[in-house]
Amino acid sequence: MTHPRSTLSLAALALTFSAGMAVSHGDVTPQPVNTEGLPELTDGWEFENPFRDPDGDHWERALRVGDSGYGQNCARCHGLEAVSGGLAPDLRFLMAEEMDDEWYMERIRRGSGDRMPAYEELMNQEAMWAIRTYIETRPDPDGIAEFMPRLREIRDGLRDKQTEIAEGNATADDFADEIAALHVELAEIAEQVPTLSGAPKADSIARRAAVILERGGDRFLRDADETLTIGLSVSR
Ligand code: HEC
Repeated sequence: MTHPRSTLSLAALALTFSAGMAVSHGDVTPQPVNTEGLPELTDGWEFENPFRDPDGDHWERALRVGDSGYGQNCARCHGLEAVSGGLAPDLRFLMAEEMDDEWYMERIRRGSGDRMPAYEELMNQEAMWAIRTYIETRPDPDGIAEFMPRLREIRDGLRDKQTEIAEGNATADDFADEIAALHVELAEIAEQVPTLSGAPKADSIARRAAVILERGGDRFLRDADETLTIGLSVSR
């Protein structure tokens, strides 16, 4: 059922627009993307994502740049974590290969009429491929579901260790062997989580937690706990 425009008060319209809910994208300010740490792409436009290889030097950095670039520029239409709420297509299903890369680049560079802004003047090519890397590495929610009970156990275990340390009953060193084993297990789980795009490796919470455990440092138990907790709470 549609209402004629004239029945909407101007005040209501003004409110709608100032709240950033406008249907047109004309009033939203795209955010610059900081691509520091990524190599400059100087040979013109690439046909295929140059950061795709998870064993390559730039994958990890591209993911991080893409995560924030996506969150600031694309999420409000394409959904948080690239899970579409129906406003715009679900980008997780674009295949991680040349044909869909070309389609992706076409859309991000030129936009789509008044439905999606063109980003060609707003971000560089490195940022575009970093966002591509972030999108294509979203985990398949069905594929990670089977690991959730174990990830929850691991999280609870990390929490118990923090409590023991906080109460002075143990130090992080006492858990070194156990942490090393957990790192291996999380990395193994991470290898098994599929993507919807066919990209070789998913950026799952198991992967992120494994990276944190490997990194070590002062707050790594808490950081790994937090990473798993956030992931466990958004998964249904
Ligand atoms: C204002 C809302 C909006 C924003 C912001 C936006 N998009 Fe879109 N996007 C759309 C809509 C709507 C479509 C469908 C367009 C059409 O079919 O004509 C679309 C289509 C696409 C497509 C083609 C998908 C397909 O399956 O055909 C890609 C790729 C894409 N967007 C990437 C992005 C990226 C990357 C960003 C952030 C840099 C972004 N979009 C920001 C609304 C948006």
